[in-house]
Amino acid sequence: MRTGVWLVGARGSVAATSVIGALALRAGLVGPTGCVTELPGLRHPGIPGPGDLVFGGHDVSSTPLAKKADALAVAGVVPAWLVRALHDELPAVERELRPAPEAGDQAGTAELIGADLTDFRRRHGLDRVVVINVSTTEPAPEPHPAHADLAALEAELPRSRTLLPASALYAYAAFGSGCPYVGLHPVDPVARLPALDQLARRQGLPYGGHDGKTGETLVKSVLAPMFALRNLRVRTWSGINLLGGGRDGGQPRRAGAQRGQDRPASSGCWPRRSATPPRAPPASSIWRTSATSRPPGTW
Ligand SMILES: NC(=O)c1ccc[n+]([C@@H]2O[C@H](COP(=O)([O-])OP(=O)(O)OC[C@H]3O[C@@H](n4cnc5c(N)ncnc54)[C@H](O)[C@@H]3O)[C@@H](O)[C@H]2O)c1
Repeated sequence: MRTGVWLVGARGSVAATSVIGALALRAGLVGPTGCVTELPGLRHPGIPGPGDLVFGGHDVSSTPLAKKADALAVAGVVPAWLVRALHDELPAVERELRPAPEAGDQAGTAELIGADLTDFRRRHGLDRVVVINVSTTEPAPEPHPAHADLAALEAELPRSRTLLPASALYAYAAFGSGCPYVGLHPVDPVARLPALDQLARRQGLPYGGHDGKTGETLVKSVLAPMFALRNLRVRTWSGINLLGGGRDGGQPRRAGAQRGQDRPASSGCWPRRSATPPRAPPASSIWRTSATSRPPGTW
């Protein structure tokens, strides 16, 4: 089954490493180490292989994908030989990247996003297109009554430029265009906004994701229950984005923004029966450890 992967934030670190990995697998340059779909219990003919994936995406940045790949190689995130070997492959993906659309209101922006998705599907003869949001982390949206009801949301969108955060608007456009949606944001809004859930159900489309939990977050998810079992209190998590994401990690500095990896540990990280829940550390110590875009050792 020919499957399109539409990356929101297509010029960022997660997107570029994903594209490099898929192209390298397809070219037989690397093995499928770490690909869970290669496990016997998950391998299934209905799951497309890397050779079936066609990449495209939106980004507000215009940094060429090849330049991003070079930067990741210089940072030691991906091998330089691999980037050189894919030199002829990356331009084909580059041609499928589009500037993030912006119209006068959010209904118009959603229409432009949908038009890019439809055009991508048609030109490549794709059986399906999955939208995966790997863009910069956002603050949780300000509550609004229209978030709770699809009809109210659709009435409000033509009048607003800010009703939905960008990620939710991409999800809205994805569902409207018949595309499933996956969010890698630590605070991905889709599951929190009932109106979007209603739209996905009406369209019969799946959605998922609430942080990729690909790297250090995965390790923390494993460590957290262990600390709890030992009655050790985790007062805060800190994070460093080893991919060096440009904006990722800058967000928590904005008022109201709170990035999942950097917030004080949730109640799941210490025994609920504990009579004295831990006090949150001073905000300054959270932010001090939350500049995830800085390379290690630069404090
Ligand atoms: N880096 C990791 O290991 C990791 C792991 C799990 C989840 N995540 C999450 O994945 C996301 C991406 O991380 P990253 O390291 O690639 O960050 P990054 O900063 O390298 O990439 C984010 C990209 O999103 C683009 N972008 C921002 N706003 C946009 C918009 N409105 N429309 C389209 N594009 C937009 C930026 O221009 C940038 O190219 C973050 O939300 C992060 O929390 C990252």
